[in-house]
Amino acid sequence: MKHLRTRVAIIGSGPSGLALGQLLHRQGIDNVVLDRVSAEYILKRIRAGILETGFAELMREAGVSARMDRDGLVHDGFAIAFNGHSTRIDLKGLTGGRTVLCYGQVEITHDLIDARVQSGQPTFYEASDVRLHDLTSDQPSITFQHDGENCTLHCDYIAGCDGFHGVSRQSIPAELRTEFERVYPFGWLGVLSDTPPVDEELIYCRSERGFALASMRSHTRSRYYIDVPLTAKVDEWSDDAFWAELKRRLPYDAAERLVTGPSIEKSIAPLRSFVCEPMQHGRLFLVGDAAHIVPPTGAKGLNLAASDVSTLYRILTRVYRDNDLSCVPLYSEIALRRVWHGERFSWWLTRLLHHFDEQGRHDKSGNSGRRFTESELQYLLGSEAGRRLIAEQYVGLPYESLPESRAAMAAANAA
Ligand code: APR
Ligand code: PHB
Repeated sequence: MKHLRTRVAIIGSGPSGLALGQLLHRQGIDNVVLDRVSAEYILKRIRAGILETGFAELMREAGVSARMDRDGLVHDGFAIAFNGHSTRIDLKGLTGGRTVLCYGQVEITHDLIDARVQSGQPTFYEASDVRLHDLTSDQPSITFQHDGENCTLHCDYIAGCDGFHGVSRQSIPAELRTEFERVYPFGWLGVLSDTPPVDEELIYCRSERGFALASMRSHTRSRYYIDVPLTAKVDEWSDDAFWAELKRRLPYDAAERLVTGPSIEKSIAPLRSFVCEPMQHGRLFLVGDAAHIVPPTGAKGLNLAASDVSTLYRILTRVYRDNDLSCVPLYSEIALRRVWHGERFSWWLTRLLHHFDEQGRHDKSGNSGRRFTESELQYLLGSEAGRRLIAEQYVGLPYESLPESRAAMAAANAA
């Protein structure tokens, strides 16, 4: 048995785990990252690409923003097309100047992996049989196998950044967990192609035929989605079939501009809203997809992971820099307040932009739910207040600050 020691053990080297590891490292807080797959495997995952201001600022604080600031596309707004009419959501004008950054998650992960290598902090890829122990003691540990060796990692705290299918959430006793879940009756078929985007900004579409999203990764690489029934199989969708259906759902002018080409990635993702409460148990903290999942409509998945990371990083910095443990018990309640805002917004926008029953798509008989939704969308897009509601949440609600530290209060009292 090989024994290792660190301050913070991080399970998962996706965006959550790597961002947390880098931020802690810059505060001189030793940490170890474990992942069950290789870095190469992780970099093959195609994920979203819209960063809130908060996430971009966190990457700058982590010192890994050079490529993001160079290559990321600043978006001042996006469009919502409803039954062929496009309405622009003027993010910058409606939120006092705030914007979003279009920069692929795989690029973020690339930048974070490079920084991890430069930091020299220990990272164990292809670690197997990861198990968490003694979470409610002051000496938690993780056992795992690596390179055929049995290892025990002794630590002060464990950050479960291991995604929806990870081991961390399951390590909280079931009787202490409350899980909230909503599964949607459709999935998103996504295509990545080296073709120029149809527009400078994103276009979300609610058409008679269903949902479509025209996004991008750069001026030469596009990302498109259409919603498909849960029974759909990606092999059933040729590139030609996908492009033809996308054209039917995009507004006319965008459809006319659409440049098609071979898909370099094509996959179907299910849509789900999921939250685990609480997000901490003893010395274990759940971060990102390990604790919550959102439908991608609001582009909140990565951005909610970022606010979890920001909260946990600041709490642990207080612990090790100021010997102030007062905020440790507050992580879950602080993180969940913003998580639920992101969950609600993602559910709300998904409901507004998708047909929720197969009947609603083609049936002309009285489907009042469909009319209520169309009327709501019409009202929101037609009113500045409605567009501001969408804009404020899309750019991201502010991160919640920690309560004033004891050190800060003592300094203020002494002054
Ligand atoms: N042991 C070790 N590592 C594990 C285990 C395990 N038992 N289970 C999962 N992992 C690793 C996975 O291999 C993966 O690399 O944890 C990592 C989790 O990464 P993500 O799923 O990307 O989760 P997160 O870092 O929170 O990022 C959230 O990614 O999935 C998207 O939409 C999501 O944008 C959001 C972001
Ligand atoms: C993407 O570019 O992959 C993307 C953008 C916005 C979303 C979802 C996905 O809401």
